[in-house]
Amino acid sequence: MIYSKEVIKHFKKPHNQGVIKNADSVGQVGNVTCGDVMKIYLKIDDKGPKSKPGPLIKDVKFETLGCAAAIAVSSALTDRVKGMTLEEALAVKKDDIVNDLGGLPAPKIHCSMLGLEALHKAIKQYK
Ligand code: FES
Repeated sequence: MIYSKEVIKHFKKPHNQGVIKNADSVGQVGNVTCGDVMKIYLKIDDKGPKSKPGPLIKDVKFETLGCAAAIAVSSALTDRVKGMTLEEALAVKKDDIVNDLGGLPAPKIHCSMLGLEALHKAIKQYK
């Protein structure tokens, strides 16, 4: 399987990996087929700055037990949604993440869904 340079970069040095101890919400999902598990922690700023009224994602971290693509997706996804309002984050599509990563091999596209599912779960729990 051939991964893009961007996937390898995020896999080797993932951004936003870890736990937010006093998170406002946590979303955890698992893929029954491959067994991978992803957890997204959110710290929410209810008001946000004047220029961008909240609620918005002040901080986001992830823990992923999974394949290289799942880790790269978690890293790219958390980079993308940090600072977004919850509505903006909910509008992020699978293709946005795949493009951020310079593409994913076809059998790994489902890994990008796992990231979005975890994010959506965390946002819905917050709401
Ligand atoms: Fe399951 Fe990547 S193989 S998330």
